Amino acid sequence: MQRHRNNKIAKQLWKGRKTRVARVLFVLATGAITFVATQANEPKAKPKYPLGELGKVVRIGEEIVTRTAEHHLSKQYVGNSLNCTSCHLDSGRHMQAGSFLGTAAAYPAWSPREERVITLEDRILNCFMRSQNGIRPPKGSRVSVAIATYITWLSEGSSIQMNSEKPLGPNHTPALDFNGMKPDLERGANLYANRCADCHRKDGMGSDDGPPVWGDQSYNDGAGLSRIPKLASWLKVAMPLDDATLSTQEALDIAAFVNSHKRPKFVLSEHLPDDVKLGEYNGKR
Ligand code: HEC
Ligand code: HEC
Repeated sequence: MQRHRNNKIAKQLWKGRKTRVARVLFVLATGAITFVATQANEPKAKPKYPLGELGKVVRIGEEIVTRTAEHHLSKQYVGNSLNCTSCHLDSGRHMQAGSFLGTAAAYPAWSPREERVITLEDRILNCFMRSQNGIRPPKGSRVSVAIATYITWLSEGSSIQMNSEKPLGPNHTPALDFNGMKPDLERGANLYANRCADCHRKDGMGSDDGPPVWGDQSYNDGAGLSRIPKLASWLKVAMPLDDATLSTQEALDIAAFVNSHKRPKFVLSEHLPDDVKLGEYNGKR
């Protein structure tokens, strides 16, 4: 009898504990789901910087990405008036337009263009030569390390999954399916005049409201965006700024029109520094 009562009490206790355990599990699970959903869908709105020197370098990297053409650590390597964030919108926090979210987790990656396995630092430095029409900064230099630190910080929490096909991260700009569409330059010109020229000017030279899209001060013809399909995919998710509503056909027409204009020619040797500057000791002497 006594035993039975004890059992009953124990059962009740366990029942109470079960609901408590279940409640705790439920709270943990919903918390985890919200956390995962937030991680997957939202850029870091209120970033928490790492402590100490690491946090400082993350911030320097963020500044360089935002003001690449004028920052004292990067400007000598830039050959046009663009900043990384001209294409990697919201300093790489945009979910689709050149997103840096999760990017570090894809490296080292295979790069068909370089025919090498490349690191995140290599990928960053290559954008200086092509998209920024400049000179490749030395590996291990402050500018290179700061940008890599910033991008890696934006990738915290992503599990490493190296890319064996392309040097692209998990949130790279989605490639469009053109389904046999052909670009039409005349339609592109009209669309450009109506949807783009207000900010980038009719002559493409840019204004206070938008950087140059062709000519000496824009990306060179070795840059990703100089390829029409790539530019179209990027425009689809990025432009017009804050109103990215182009149809696939419109994006293709405008991309063909924008890239039909003159821009700097890319010759690799002109963008590599002297051999001694190609690498640098990355540590305290
Ligand atoms: C003219 C536009 C443009 C500029 C300026 C530019 N980039 Fe890029 N960058 C691209 C494009 C386009 C890609 C390919 C991205 C994609 O397909 O999602 C790319 C890719 C990258 C990647 C690889 C992303 C991934 O998903 O793996 C990194 C890293 C990168 N750029 C860094 C930089 C840095 C750092 C700067 C400034 C020094 C810079 N880029 C300037 C256009 C640009
Ligand atoms: C409201 C102004 C505005 C409109 C309209 C606009 N852009 Fe942009 N565009 C910008 C700004 C600003 C940037 C740079 C992003 C940043 O710094 O945050 C940019 C960046 C770009 C870039 C990459 C950097 C460069 O200059 O090469 C291209 C290409 C581009 N826009 C093309 C277009 C096209 C094509 C259209 C029309 C479909 C368009 N934009 C409409 C403001 C605008």
